[in-house]
Amino acid sequence: MSDNQGPKRFQTPKGVHDILPKDHEYHTFIKKVVRHRCRQAGFKRITTPIFEFTDVFKRSIGDETDIVSKEMYTFEDKKGRSLTLKPESTAGVVRAYIQNNMQEWPQPVELYYIEPHFRYDRPQKGRYRQFWQIGLELIGESDPALDAQCIQLAHLINKDLGIADRFELQLNTIGTPEARAEYSQVLSDYYVGKDRSLCEDCLRRRDKNPLRLLDCKAEDCQILADLAPKMSDYLDKESVEFHEELKSYLDEMGIEYKENERLVRGLDYYSKTVFEFWDKHEGAQNAIGGGGRYDGLVELLGGNPTPAVGYAAGIERMIANMKISKVRVPSKDNLHVFVAQLGTEAKKKCLPLIQDLREAGIKTMGALGKGAIKNQLRLADKHGVPWTVLIGITEVRDGTAIIRNMEKGTQETVPMEKVVSTLKKKIGAKNLDTYSPGELLYS
Ligand code: HAM
Repeated sequence: MSDNQGPKRFQTPKGVHDILPKDHEYHTFIKKVVRHRCRQAGFKRITTPIFEFTDVFKRSIGDETDIVSKEMYTFEDKKGRSLTLKPESTAGVVRAYIQNNMQEWPQPVELYYIEPHFRYDRPQKGRYRQFWQIGLELIGESDPALDAQCIQLAHLINKDLGIADRFELQLNTIGTPEARAEYSQVLSDYYVGKDRSLCEDCLRRRDKNPLRLLDCKAEDCQILADLAPKMSDYLDKESVEFHEELKSYLDEMGIEYKENERLVRGLDYYSKTVFEFWDKHEGAQNAIGGGGRYDGLVELLGGNPTPAVGYAAGIERMIANMKISKVRVPSKDNLHVFVAQLGTEAKKKCLPLIQDLREAGIKTMGALGKGAIKNQLRLADKHGVPWTVLIGITEVRDGTAIIRNMEKGTQETVPMEKVVSTLKKKIGAKNLDTYSPGELLYS
Protein backbone atom coordinates (compact mmCIF):
# COMPACT_ATOMS: atom_id res chain seq x y z
CA MET A 1 0.00 0.00 0.00
CA SER A 2 2.99 2.34 0.23
CA ASP A 3 4.98 4.00 -2.53
CA ASN A 4 7.60 6.72 -2.66
CA GLN A 5 5.14 9.29 -1.36
CA GLY A 6 4.35 7.17 1.70
CA PRO A 7 1.12 5.35 2.43
CA LYS A 8 -1.92 6.05 0.24
CA ARG A 9 -4.27 8.66 1.68
CA PHE A 10 -7.83 7.63 1.04
CA GLN A 11 -10.47 10.07 -0.11
CA THR A 12 -14.23 9.78 -0.21
CA PRO A 13 -15.61 8.59 -3.56
CA LYS A 14 -16.70 11.39 -5.91
CA GLY A 15 -19.96 13.07 -4.93
CA VAL A 16 -20.13 11.98 -1.29
CA HIS A 17 -19.12 13.93 1.79
CA ASP A 18 -18.35 13.66 5.47
CA ILE A 19 -20.78 15.62 7.61
CA LEU A 20 -18.42 17.39 9.98
CA PRO A 21 -19.50 18.72 13.42
CA LYS A 22 -20.22 22.27 12.16
CA ASP A 23 -22.63 21.01 9.50
CA HIS A 24 -24.21 18.62 11.98
CA GLU A 25 -25.43 21.69 13.85
CA TYR A 26 -27.47 22.53 10.72
CA HIS A 27 -28.66 18.95 10.33
CA THR A 28 -29.75 18.89 13.98
CA PHE A 29 -31.61 22.17 13.62
CA ILE A 30 -33.36 21.10 10.40
CA LYS A 31 -34.35 17.80 11.98
CA LYS A 32 -35.78 19.69 14.95
CA VAL A 33 -37.82 22.04 12.76
CA VAL A 34 -39.18 19.19 10.62
CA ARG A 35 -40.00 17.05 13.64
CA HIS A 36 -41.75 19.93 15.36
CA ARG A 37 -43.83 20.97 12.35
CA CYS A 38 -44.72 17.36 11.52
CA ARG A 39 -45.71 16.46 15.06
CA GLN A 40 -47.83 19.61 15.25
CA ALA A 41 -49.72 18.34 12.21
CA GLY A 42 -50.08 14.75 13.44
CA PHE A 43 -47.45 13.17 11.16
CA LYS A 44 -45.53 10.11 12.41
CA ARG A 45 -41.93 9.28 11.49
CA ILE A 46 -41.02 6.36 9.27
CA THR A 47 -37.70 4.89 8.18
CA THR A 48 -37.61 2.48 5.28
CA PRO A 49 -34.50 0.39 4.55
CA ILE A 50 -31.52 1.90 2.78
CA PHE A 51 -31.98 -0.71 0.03
CA GLU A 52 -35.03 -2.33 -1.53
CA PHE A 53 -35.64 -4.79 -4.33
CA THR A 54 -34.80 -2.91 -7.52
CA ASP A 55 -38.30 -3.46 -8.92
CA VAL A 56 -39.83 -1.30 -6.16
CA PHE A 57 -38.09 1.72 -7.71
CA LYS A 58 -38.36 0.63 -11.34
CA ARG A 59 -42.11 0.20 -11.09
CA SER A 60 -42.71 3.37 -9.10
CA ILE A 61 -40.37 5.92 -10.59
CA GLY A 62 -40.55 4.54 -14.15
CA ASP A 63 -38.05 2.76 -16.41
CA GLU A 64 -37.62 5.75 -18.69
CA THR A 65 -36.80 8.32 -16.01
CA ASP A 66 -33.23 9.54 -15.51
CA ILE A 67 -33.27 8.18 -11.97
CA VAL A 68 -34.02 4.61 -13.03
CA SER A 69 -32.22 4.55 -16.36
CA LYS A 70 -29.01 6.28 -15.28
CA GLU A 71 -28.77 7.06 -11.59
CA MET A 72 -29.43 4.00 -9.48
CA TYR A 73 -26.85 2.20 -7.36
CA THR A 74 -27.94 -1.33 -8.20
CA PHE A 75 -26.16 -4.49 -7.13
CA GLU A 76 -26.78 -8.18 -6.70
CA ASP A 77 -26.70 -9.85 -3.31
CA LYS A 78 -25.04 -13.21 -2.78
CA LYS A 79 -28.16 -15.01 -3.99
CA GLY A 80 -28.26 -13.01 -7.20
CA ARG A 81 -31.23 -10.81 -6.22
CA SER A 82 -31.19 -7.29 -7.60
CA LEU A 83 -31.16 -4.63 -4.88
CA THR A 84 -30.90 -0.84 -5.14
CA LEU A 85 -29.84 1.87 -2.69
CA LYS A 86 -32.88 4.10 -2.34
CA PRO A 87 -32.73 7.07 -4.75
CA GLU A 88 -35.87 8.52 -3.09
CA SER A 89 -38.31 7.40 -0.40
CA THR A 90 -41.83 7.60 -1.82
CA ALA A 91 -41.58 4.16 -3.43
CA GLY A 92 -40.33 2.55 -0.22
CA VAL A 93 -42.96 4.29 1.92
CA VAL A 94 -45.73 3.07 -0.38
CA ARG A 95 -44.25 -0.46 -0.29
CA ALA A 96 -44.27 -0.18 3.53
CA TYR A 97 -47.86 1.11 3.53
CA ILE A 98 -49.00 -1.99 1.66
CA GLN A 99 -46.75 -4.48 3.45
CA ASN A 100 -47.79 -3.25 6.92
CA ASN A 101 -51.50 -3.05 6.15
CA MET A 102 -51.60 0.66 6.81
CA GLN A 103 -54.89 0.84 4.92
CA GLU A 104 -56.34 -0.47 8.22
CA TRP A 105 -55.00 2.58 10.10
CA PRO A 106 -57.06 5.78 10.33
CA GLN A 107 -56.79 7.48 6.93
CA PRO A 108 -55.03 9.44 5.67
CA VAL A 109 -51.81 7.98 7.00
CA GLU A 110 -49.42 10.93 7.36
CA LEU A 111 -45.74 10.07 7.54
CA TYR A 112 -42.45 11.95 7.46
CA TYR A 113 -38.84 10.90 7.03
CA ILE A 114 -35.32 12.28 7.32
CA GLU A 115 -33.09 9.95 5.35
CA PRO A 116 -29.99 9.59 3.18
CA HIS A 117 -30.55 8.79 -0.50
CA PHE A 118 -28.28 7.75 -3.34
CA ARG A 119 -28.21 8.77 -6.99
CA TYR A 120 -25.40 8.29 -9.47
CA ASP A 121 -25.80 11.90 -10.58
CA ARG A 122 -23.09 14.08 -12.13
CA PRO A 123 -21.71 15.78 -9.01
CA GLN A 124 -21.94 19.56 -9.05
CA LYS A 125 -23.12 22.32 -6.75
CA GLY A 126 -26.19 21.05 -4.87
CA ARG A 127 -26.05 17.66 -6.58
CA TYR A 128 -24.40 14.76 -4.79
CA ARG A 129 -24.32 10.98 -4.95
CA GLN A 130 -25.34 10.62 -1.32
CA PHE A 131 -27.69 13.34 -0.13
CA TRP A 132 -30.25 13.75 2.62
CA GLN A 133 -33.94 14.46 2.19
CA ILE A 134 -36.74 15.38 4.51
CA GLY A 135 -40.04 14.14 3.15
CA LEU A 136 -43.78 14.03 3.79
CA GLU A 137 -46.28 11.49 2.49
CA LEU A 138 -50.07 11.74 3.02
CA ILE A 139 -51.65 8.49 1.89
CA GLY A 140 -55.34 7.58 1.74
CA GLU A 141 -57.27 10.74 0.85
CA SER A 142 -57.94 12.43 -2.47
CA ASP A 143 -59.11 15.89 -1.42
CA PRO A 144 -57.13 18.90 -2.77
CA ALA A 145 -57.13 20.23 0.80
CA LEU A 146 -54.44 17.62 1.49
CA ASP A 147 -52.30 18.89 -1.37
CA ALA A 148 -52.71 22.35 0.15
CA GLN A 149 -51.72 21.08 3.58
CA CYS A 150 -48.66 19.33 2.18
CA ILE A 151 -47.55 22.50 0.40
CA GLN A 152 -48.24 24.59 3.49
CA LEU A 153 -46.11 22.32 5.67
CA ALA A 154 -43.26 22.47 3.13
CA HIS A 155 -43.57 26.26 3.08
CA LEU A 156 -43.62 26.49 6.89
CA ILE A 157 -40.46 24.40 7.12
CA ASN A 158 -38.71 26.72 4.64
CA LYS A 159 -39.95 29.67 6.68
CA ASP A 160 -38.70 28.26 9.98
CA LEU A 161 -35.30 27.72 8.38
CA GLY A 162 -35.22 31.38 7.36
CA ILE A 163 -35.04 30.65 3.62
CA ALA A 164 -38.66 30.82 2.41
CA ASP A 165 -38.15 34.15 0.67
CA ARG A 166 -35.38 32.69 -1.49
CA PHE A 167 -37.85 30.36 -3.20
CA GLU A 168 -40.85 30.57 -5.43
CA LEU A 169 -43.53 27.90 -5.47
CA GLN A 170 -44.09 26.59 -9.00
CA LEU A 171 -47.39 24.83 -9.47
CA ASN A 172 -48.97 22.73 -12.19
CA THR A 173 -51.39 19.91 -12.82
CA ILE A 174 -50.50 17.08 -15.15
CA GLY A 175 -54.01 15.64 -15.08
CA THR A 176 -55.22 12.07 -14.87
CA PRO A 177 -53.18 9.29 -16.50
CA GLU A 178 -55.74 9.12 -19.34
CA ALA A 179 -55.49 12.83 -20.11
CA ARG A 180 -51.73 12.63 -19.88
CA ALA A 181 -51.56 9.67 -22.26
CA GLU A 182 -53.49 11.64 -24.88
CA TYR A 183 -51.33 14.72 -24.38
CA SER A 184 -48.13 12.63 -24.52
CA GLN A 185 -49.17 11.35 -27.93
CA VAL A 186 -49.83 14.90 -29.15
CA LEU A 187 -46.44 15.99 -27.86
CA SER A 188 -44.68 13.04 -29.42
CA ASP A 189 -46.23 13.94 -32.78
CA TYR A 190 -45.24 17.59 -32.35
CA TYR A 191 -41.60 16.63 -31.88
CA VAL A 192 -41.45 14.42 -34.99
CA GLY A 193 -39.04 15.92 -37.54
CA LYS A 194 -37.36 18.17 -34.96
CA ASP A 195 -34.46 15.82 -34.22
CA ARG A 196 -31.80 18.32 -35.13
CA SER A 197 -32.95 20.81 -32.49
CA LEU A 198 -33.22 18.29 -29.69
CA CYS A 199 -30.46 17.40 -27.22
CA GLU A 200 -29.38 13.78 -26.84
CA ASP A 201 -31.44 13.25 -23.68
CA CYS A 202 -34.59 14.59 -25.31
CA LEU A 203 -34.11 12.46 -28.42
CA ARG A 204 -33.97 9.42 -26.18
CA ARG A 205 -37.01 10.46 -24.14
CA ARG A 206 -39.17 11.64 -27.03
CA ASP A 207 -41.02 8.40 -27.69
CA LYS A 208 -41.32 6.99 -24.21
CA ASN A 209 -41.53 10.04 -21.93
CA PRO A 210 -42.26 13.12 -24.09
CA LEU A 211 -43.49 15.20 -21.13
CA ARG A 212 -39.93 15.47 -19.87
CA LEU A 213 -39.00 17.38 -23.02
CA LEU A 214 -40.96 20.30 -21.63
CA ASP A 215 -38.60 20.91 -18.73
CA CYS A 216 -35.30 20.25 -20.49
CA LYS A 217 -32.76 22.98 -19.64
CA ALA A 218 -31.02 22.99 -23.07
CA GLU A 219 -31.63 26.26 -24.91
CA ASP A 220 -32.91 24.82 -28.22
CA CYS A 221 -35.15 22.37 -26.41
CA GLN A 222 -36.62 25.23 -24.41
CA ILE A 223 -37.46 27.16 -27.55
CA LEU A 224 -39.29 24.12 -28.93
CA ALA A 225 -41.04 23.55 -25.59
CA ASP A 226 -42.32 27.15 -25.63
CA LEU A 227 -44.06 26.49 -28.93
CA ALA A 228 -45.35 23.02 -28.04
CA PRO A 229 -49.08 22.23 -27.58
CA LYS A 230 -50.21 23.06 -24.03
CA MET A 231 -51.22 20.48 -21.45
CA SER A 232 -54.11 22.69 -20.38
CA ASP A 233 -55.84 22.07 -23.72
CA TYR A 234 -55.95 18.34 -23.00
CA LEU A 235 -56.84 18.29 -19.31
CA ASP A 236 -59.94 16.47 -18.15
CA LYS A 237 -62.68 18.32 -16.26
CA GLU A 238 -61.95 16.49 -12.97
CA SER A 239 -58.29 17.57 -12.95
CA VAL A 240 -59.16 21.16 -13.81
CA GLU A 241 -61.67 21.40 -10.98
CA PHE A 242 -59.28 19.72 -8.55
CA HIS A 243 -56.59 22.23 -9.48
CA GLU A 244 -58.91 25.23 -9.13
CA GLU A 245 -59.91 24.03 -5.68
CA LEU A 246 -56.29 23.57 -4.62
CA LYS A 247 -55.44 27.10 -5.78
CA SER A 248 -58.38 28.53 -3.85
CA TYR A 249 -57.05 26.86 -0.67
CA LEU A 250 -53.55 28.22 -1.27
CA ASP A 251 -55.04 31.69 -1.82
CA GLU A 252 -56.98 31.33 1.39
CA MET A 253 -53.80 30.43 3.29
CA GLY A 254 -51.87 33.31 1.72
CA ILE A 255 -49.36 31.01 0.02
CA GLU A 256 -48.06 32.56 -3.19
CA TYR A 257 -47.46 30.38 -6.25
CA LYS A 258 -46.59 30.72 -9.87
CA GLU A 259 -48.45 28.60 -12.36
CA ASN A 260 -46.01 26.80 -14.62
CA GLU A 261 -47.52 24.69 -17.36
CA ARG A 262 -44.17 23.18 -18.18
CA LEU A 263 -43.49 21.77 -14.75
CA VAL A 264 -43.73 17.99 -15.08
CA ARG A 265 -41.28 16.54 -12.46
CA GLY A 266 -38.78 13.79 -13.11
CA LEU A 267 -40.66 10.81 -11.66
CA ASP A 268 -43.46 8.95 -13.43
CA TYR A 269 -45.78 8.29 -10.50
CA TYR A 270 -47.42 11.71 -10.40
CA SER A 271 -50.95 12.60 -11.43
CA LYS A 272 -52.79 15.93 -11.10
CA THR A 273 -50.85 18.23 -8.72
CA VAL A 274 -47.11 18.76 -9.16
CA PHE A 275 -45.06 21.48 -7.48
CA GLU A 276 -41.50 22.59 -6.81
CA PHE A 277 -39.86 25.33 -4.79
CA TRP A 278 -37.49 27.05 -7.23
CA ASP A 279 -34.58 29.25 -6.32
CA LYS A 280 -35.67 32.77 -7.32
CA HIS A 281 -32.34 33.37 -9.01
CA GLU A 282 -31.31 29.96 -10.32
CA GLY A 283 -34.73 28.57 -11.27
CA ALA A 284 -35.27 24.84 -11.58
CA GLN A 285 -31.55 24.07 -11.39
CA ASN A 286 -31.38 24.05 -7.64
CA ALA A 287 -34.96 23.48 -6.55
CA ILE A 288 -34.99 22.98 -2.82
CA GLY A 289 -37.82 20.49 -2.95
CA GLY A 290 -40.67 19.12 -4.96
CA GLY A 291 -43.61 16.81 -4.83
CA GLY A 292 -47.10 16.13 -5.99
CA ARG A 293 -50.02 13.76 -6.05
CA TYR A 294 -49.49 10.09 -6.86
CA ASP A 295 -52.95 8.55 -6.86
CA GLY A 296 -51.97 5.48 -8.87
CA LEU A 297 -48.85 4.36 -7.03
CA VAL A 298 -50.31 2.23 -4.22
CA GLU A 299 -52.22 0.18 -6.77
CA LEU A 300 -49.20 0.00 -9.08
CA LEU A 301 -47.23 -1.61 -6.24
CA GLY A 302 -49.94 -4.17 -5.54
CA GLY A 303 -52.18 -2.42 -2.99
CA ASN A 304 -55.81 -1.34 -3.22
CA PRO A 305 -56.40 1.86 -5.20
CA THR A 306 -55.41 4.59 -2.71
CA PRO A 307 -54.85 8.28 -3.42
CA ALA A 308 -51.79 10.06 -2.01
CA VAL A 309 -49.73 13.24 -2.12
CA GLY A 310 -46.22 14.05 -0.87
CA TYR A 311 -43.12 16.23 -0.90
CA ALA A 312 -39.38 15.93 -0.36
CA ALA A 313 -36.61 18.50 0.02
CA GLY A 314 -32.82 18.23 -0.01
CA ILE A 315 -31.08 18.93 3.29
CA GLU A 316 -27.74 19.91 1.69
CA ARG A 317 -29.58 22.51 -0.40
CA MET A 318 -31.40 23.76 2.68
CA ILE A 319 -28.08 24.19 4.48
CA ALA A 320 -26.45 25.92 1.49
CA ASN A 321 -29.33 28.40 1.38
CA MET A 322 -29.27 28.99 5.12
CA LYS A 323 -25.58 29.83 4.80
CA ILE A 324 -26.22 32.22 1.89
CA SER A 325 -28.96 33.89 3.97
CA LYS A 326 -26.54 34.00 6.93
CA VAL A 327 -28.97 32.07 9.12
CA ARG A 328 -27.10 30.95 12.20
CA VAL A 329 -28.16 27.87 14.10
CA PRO A 330 -27.73 27.29 17.82
CA SER A 331 -24.54 25.43 18.67
CA LYS A 332 -25.21 22.90 21.37
CA ASP A 333 -21.67 21.57 21.19
CA ASN A 334 -20.05 24.56 22.90
CA LEU A 335 -18.34 23.62 26.15
CA HIS A 336 -18.99 25.53 29.38
CA VAL A 337 -16.00 24.51 31.46
CA PHE A 338 -12.50 23.25 31.08
CA VAL A 339 -10.87 21.59 34.08
CA ALA A 340 -7.09 21.94 34.29
CA GLN A 341 -4.95 20.23 36.90
CA LEU A 342 -1.38 19.80 38.04
CA GLY A 343 -0.12 16.62 39.65
CA THR A 344 -1.53 13.19 40.42
CA GLU A 345 -3.37 14.26 43.56
CA ALA A 346 -5.08 17.09 41.70
CA LYS A 347 -6.08 14.68 38.94
CA LYS A 348 -7.72 12.43 41.54
CA LYS A 349 -9.85 15.38 42.69
CA CYS A 350 -10.62 16.35 39.12
CA LEU A 351 -12.21 13.17 37.91
CA PRO A 352 -15.18 13.16 40.34
CA LEU A 353 -15.52 16.94 39.93
CA ILE A 354 -15.77 16.62 36.16
CA GLN A 355 -18.53 14.04 36.54
CA ASP A 356 -20.40 16.20 39.10
CA LEU A 357 -20.23 19.18 36.75
CA ARG A 358 -21.58 17.10 33.85
CA GLU A 359 -24.39 15.69 36.00
CA ALA A 360 -25.37 19.27 36.82
CA GLY A 361 -25.78 20.02 33.10
CA ILE A 362 -22.46 21.80 32.73
CA LYS A 363 -20.68 20.70 29.54
CA THR A 364 -17.18 19.97 30.78
CA MET A 365 -13.92 18.85 29.31
CA GLY A 366 -10.94 17.86 31.44
CA ALA A 367 -7.28 18.08 30.49
CA LEU A 368 -6.30 14.70 31.77
CA GLY A 369 -2.96 14.36 30.08
CA LYS A 370 0.36 15.42 31.47
CA GLY A 371 0.65 18.90 29.92
CA ALA A 372 1.88 21.95 31.83
CA ILE A 373 -0.82 24.28 33.20
CA LYS A 374 0.12 26.90 30.63
CA ASN A 375 -0.52 24.46 27.78
CA GLN A 376 -3.76 23.32 29.34
CA LEU A 377 -4.97 26.92 29.51
CA ARG A 378 -4.02 27.39 25.88
CA LEU A 379 -6.11 24.34 25.04
CA ALA A 380 -9.02 25.78 27.05
CA ASP A 381 -8.72 28.94 24.98
CA LYS A 382 -8.77 26.97 21.74
CA HIS A 383 -11.99 25.28 22.83
CA GLY A 384 -13.40 28.74 23.49
CA VAL A 385 -14.71 27.84 26.97
CA PRO A 386 -15.96 30.72 29.09
CA TRP A 387 -14.76 29.15 32.36
CA THR A 388 -11.77 27.12 33.51
CA VAL A 389 -11.38 25.34 36.84
CA LEU A 390 -7.78 25.00 38.01
CA ILE A 391 -6.61 22.59 40.67
CA GLY A 392 -2.94 22.49 41.70
CA ILE A 393 -0.99 21.30 44.74
CA THR A 394 -2.07 24.26 46.92
CA GLU A 395 -5.76 23.80 46.05
CA VAL A 396 -5.59 20.07 46.84
CA ARG A 397 -4.06 20.88 50.22
CA ASP A 398 -6.65 23.59 50.99
CA GLY A 399 -9.65 21.72 49.58
CA THR A 400 -10.33 24.53 47.09
CA ALA A 401 -10.36 25.19 43.35
CA ILE A 402 -9.73 28.27 41.21
CA ILE A 403 -12.47 29.39 38.84
CA ARG A 404 -11.14 31.50 36.00
CA ASN A 405 -13.17 33.75 33.75
CA MET A 406 -11.44 33.14 30.45
CA GLU A 407 -12.66 36.27 28.73
CA LYS A 408 -11.77 38.74 31.47
CA GLY A 409 -8.76 36.84 32.79
CA THR A 410 -10.05 37.23 36.39
CA GLN A 411 -10.18 34.40 38.87
CA GLU A 412 -11.48 33.48 42.32
CA THR A 413 -10.80 30.66 44.76
CA VAL A 414 -13.81 28.72 46.05
CA PRO A 415 -14.19 25.71 48.37
CA MET A 416 -14.24 22.47 46.39
CA GLU A 417 -17.82 21.67 47.42
CA LYS A 418 -19.02 25.01 46.06
CA VAL A 419 -17.49 24.66 42.57
CA VAL A 420 -20.58 23.11 40.96
CA SER A 421 -23.12 25.52 42.48
CA THR A 422 -20.94 28.57 41.74
CA LEU A 423 -20.53 27.59 38.11
CA LYS A 424 -24.21 26.73 37.74
CA LYS A 425 -25.05 30.25 38.84
CA LYS A 426 -22.49 31.83 36.51
CA ILE A 427 -23.63 29.80 33.50
CA GLY A 428 -27.33 30.36 34.17
CA ALA A 429 -30.05 27.71 34.52
CA LYS A 430 -31.38 28.19 30.97
CA ASN A 431 -28.00 27.42 29.44
CA LEU A 432 -27.45 24.15 31.28
CA ASP A 433 -27.60 20.92 29.31
CA THR A 434 -29.52 18.70 31.69
CA TYR A 435 -30.37 15.16 30.82
CA SER A 436 -32.25 12.76 33.04
CA PRO A 437 -33.39 9.73 31.07
CA GLY A 438 -35.05 8.32 34.18
CA GLU A 439 -37.62 11.13 34.13
CA LEU A 440 -38.31 10.63 30.44
CA LEU A 441 -39.26 6.99 30.73
CA TYR A 442 -42.76 5.87 31.58
CA SER A 443 -42.89 3.59 34.57
P1 HAM B 1 -37.04 14.90 -6.21
O1 HAM B 1 -37.44 16.16 -6.87
O2 HAM B 1 -36.34 13.87 -7.02
O3 HAM B 1 -38.35 14.29 -5.56
O4 HAM B 1 -36.11 15.24 -4.97
C1 HAM B 1 -36.51 16.16 -3.99
C2 HAM B 1 -35.35 17.05 -3.58
O5 HAM B 1 -34.23 16.26 -3.18
C3 HAM B 1 -34.81 17.93 -4.68
O6 HAM B 1 -35.59 19.08 -4.86
C4 HAM B 1 -33.42 18.25 -4.14
O7 HAM B 1 -33.49 19.29 -3.16
C5 HAM B 1 -33.04 16.97 -3.45
N1 HAM B 1 -32.17 16.19 -4.33
C6 HAM B 1 -32.51 15.35 -5.33
N2 HAM B 1 -31.43 14.82 -5.91
C7 HAM B 1 -30.35 15.33 -5.28
C8 HAM B 1 -28.94 15.19 -5.40
N3 HAM B 1 -28.40 14.37 -6.30
N4 HAM B 1 -28.14 15.89 -4.56
C9 HAM B 1 -28.67 16.72 -3.62
N5 HAM B 1 -29.97 16.90 -3.45
C10 HAM B 1 -30.82 16.22 -4.27
C11 HAM B 1 -38.41 13.11 -4.88
O8 HAM B 1 -37.44 12.53 -4.47
C12 HAM B 1 -39.81 12.66 -4.56
N6 HAM B 1 -39.74 11.39 -3.83
C13 HAM B 1 -40.58 13.73 -3.78
C14 HAM B 1 -41.93 13.28 -3.39
C15 HAM B 1 -42.33 12.81 -2.18
N7 HAM B 1 -42.99 13.24 -4.18
C16 HAM B 1 -44.03 12.76 -3.50
N8 HAM B 1 -43.64 12.48 -2.29
